[in-house]
Amino acid sequence: MWTRSLLLSSAALFSLDWVSAQSSSAAPVPTGVPIQGDYTGPLRPRVHYSPPKGFMNDPNGLFKDNNGTWHLYYQYNPTDVVAGNQHWGHATSPDLYDWTNQPIALFPPNSSTGVFSGSAVVDSNNTSGFFQNTTEGVVAIYTLNTPTKQVQEIAYSYDGGYTFTPYSGNPVIDVGSNQFRDPKVIWYDDHWVMVIAYAAEYVIGIYTSPNLKDWTHASNVSHVGFLGIQYECPNLVKLPVKNSSSDTAEDGWVLTISINPGAPLGGSITQYFPGTFNGTHFNPYDGATRLSNFGKDDYAGQFFYDEPVSIGWASNWEYTNIVPTASEGWRSSMTLPRNNYLVDSGARGYQLVQEIYDVSPVLSNQLNTSNNLVNSTVGNITFNNGVYFDMNITLPSNVTFAATAAINFTVSTSSSRESVRGGYILSSSTPYTIWLDRGQTNGFDSPFFTDKFSESQLRPAKRIQGMIDRSVFEVYVDNGAVVGTMDVYPAEPFTTLSVGSGDLPGGSEISFAAWELKDVWT
Ligand SMILES: *[C@@H]1O[C@H](CO)[C@@H](O)[C@H](O)[C@H]1NC(C)=O
Ligand SMILES: *[C@@H]1O[C@H](CO)[C@@H](O)[C@H](O)[C@H]1NC(C)=O
Ligand SMILES: *[C@@H]1O[C@H](CO)[C@@H](O)[C@H](O)[C@H]1NC(C)=O
Ligand SMILES: *[C@@H]1O[C@H](CO)[C@@H](O)[C@H](O)[C@H]1NC(C)=O
Ligand SMILES: *[C@@H]1O[C@H](CO)[C@@H](O)[C@H](O)[C@H]1NC(C)=O
Ligand SMILES: *[C@@H]1O[C@H](CO)[C@@H](O)[C@H](O)[C@H]1NC(C)=O
Ligand SMILES: *[C@@H]1O[C@H](CO)[C@@H](O)[C@H](O)[C@H]1NC(C)=O
Ligand SMILES: *[C@@H]1O[C@H](CO)[C@@H](O)[C@H](O)[C@H]1NC(C)=O
Ligand SMILES: *[C@@H]1O[C@H](CO)[C@@H](O)[C@H](O)[C@H]1NC(C)=O
Ligand SMILES: *[C@@H]1O[C@H](CO)[C@@H](O)[C@H](O)[C@H]1NC(C)=O
Ligand SMILES: *[C@@H]1O[C@H](CO)[C@@H](O)[C@H](O)[C@H]1NC(C)=O
Ligand SMILES: *[C@@H]1O[C@H](CO)[C@@H](O)[C@H](O)[C@H]1NC(C)=O
Repeated sequence: MWTRSLLLSSAALFSLDWVSAQSSSAAPVPTGVPIQGDYTGPLRPRVHYSPPKGFMNDPNGLFKDNNGTWHLYYQYNPTDVVAGNQHWGHATSPDLYDWTNQPIALFPPNSSTGVFSGSAVVDSNNTSGFFQNTTEGVVAIYTLNTPTKQVQEIAYSYDGGYTFTPYSGNPVIDVGSNQFRDPKVIWYDDHWVMVIAYAAEYVIGIYTSPNLKDWTHASNVSHVGFLGIQYECPNLVKLPVKNSSSDTAEDGWVLTISINPGAPLGGSITQYFPGTFNGTHFNPYDGATRLSNFGKDDYAGQFFYDEPVSIGWASNWEYTNIVPTASEGWRSSMTLPRNNYLVDSGARGYQLVQEIYDVSPVLSNQLNTSNNLVNSTVGNITFNNGVYFDMNITLPSNVTFAATAAINFTVSTSSSRESVRGGYILSSSTPYTIWLDRGQTNGFDSPFFTDKFSESQLRPAKRIQGMIDRSVFEVYVDNGAVVGTMDVYPAEPFTTLSVGSGDLPGGSEISFAAWELKDVWT
């Protein structure tokens, strides 16, 4: 209800911004130059993207240009560290980790409107007719939030996505609703396809267009999965299916729907539905609802245009406006970039696997560790920026695990005795379970800032990867078949990692390695 009333009273929200914009007119939103940021704060992630200053939420407009440059736009309030005054911030990267802040890309036409979430495409065939002299024309498709309704607009870019001009024929879709938003557009065969949320009606609309300007309603996907209070930020994407036996040439489709508030763990989460799509209609393979993360801080994820790669927003509307990073002038970061595919897992159906995108560009020196962790602990692995660790686990088959069989990992501060803990329980009497605990940190407290998260698997994990990046902790089990993302706010920086296991059966092996993270901002 909190967010519902916030959204329904967006007029009130924006009139507050209008008041502050008037009173702080000496500090207008910069145009044509990147906003400067101070990335030295102790809570600033080193390799997860965060905005130079101000408040960031959903990733928007993700695309990769012909030069191989990745473009990340994002919901951005450049004038405050809480949501409001929504623009599209912009950053570019050669590898999805080392980001360069660019000038703000999309501005609302006046202070009573906001440029809400949306997507971008490369109109290589000039279907829109906007492009006289390029096959690299970029079109952004987004929601304009006005005091009375949410309409869909487009804007075109002649310079590869750095600056945009709104189309003179806007809006391109107006159904008269004030809860209709977040268009995500893909190319299917011979036409454009948009998925969009009728947020308060629990409907994902599918529209088609020959030219990005004229849109026709094709079908609805209604009342699927968890409803929460609102549906937001749908994505429809074609992904490769990799079966365990062999990588087939088969493709599958996935519809994602983010809900907020009202996630099973509270607040915001993203659910997904594997299925078929024929250009106008989506049909899920089964009636199951699957969540993309077992933590609380992964929302509104978006796929890059025509790529199986995605990024999510690493926060939760239950507390995003009050987390302590405001003292460093910014709020919110993105998740790690992920390379996605589907696996047919048998009885449990198709499962989304979200692999960490090639992390090698941001790994610094390998830390001193022992190679085999079985029944032993490697403690006091020290680091400065953050740490990435990887373990491959080989277990004997047909074995009964001891009730205490487990793998644990802990990152700690040096003097305040704070820590973030996690582990994997192998006991045969309970399911194979990954768990995380952010309760032993002192930098932030809220009734919604839940401490502990877990998820169970049918079979023991074969691989666990983790990263602590200042105020973001992520764990990827079995290459990203299970992902946990949580924000953490220690009162002093984490400096050491300990990893170990105990009571594993004879014949077990765990190969382990850990790396210091590079600092991409200095
Ligand atoms: C702001 O822009 C919106 C959308 O173009 C328009 O409907 C509204 O009238 C404008 N408001 C003011 C105060 O100019
Ligand atoms: C561009 O045109 C080619 C040839 O008709 C077609 O195969 C392709 O799907 C089109 N792609 C886009 C993005 O318009
Ligand atoms: C793109 O379309 C517009 C409008 O139809 C046309 O004027 C222009 O010549 C086209 N550009 C190319 C490269 O075909
Ligand atoms: C491409 O065409 C646009 C629209 O006509 C024009 O504004 C722009 O200057 C042109 N760019 C180049 C490099 O010719
Ligand atoms: C690609 O790189 C070339 C050479 O640096 C540049 O001229 C061109 O504008 C770039 N294209 C895009 C889409 O950024
Ligand atoms: C699709 O859903 C919207 C929102 O509930 C509704 O207004 C529209 O009539 C539906 N269209 C069809 C064809 O069911
Ligand atoms: C797509 O599926 C819908 C519903 O099953 C069907 O009505 C439509 O004809 C199909 N379209 C194509 C191109 O097969
Ligand atoms: C870490 O170092 C401290 C102090 O040297 C020592 O007391 C502690 O046992 C070590 N922890 C581990 C897990 O090795
Ligand atoms: C595991 O046990 C089952 C039943 O006893 C047996 O059929 C199977 O061959 C065993 N598998 C392995 C890998 O030992
Ligand atoms: C793993 O951590 C849990 C929770 O702190 C603890 O109960 C258990 O003894 C640990 N197991 C090992 C093998 O370190
Ligand atoms: C680990 O310790 C347990 C006893 O706690 C023992 O039974 C087992 O053989 C040990 N595993 C290995 C691989 O040494
Ligand atoms: C774990 O296995 C993957 C391949 O499956 C490999 O790329 C990685 O280097 C291994 N990590 C460790 C620590 O052995």
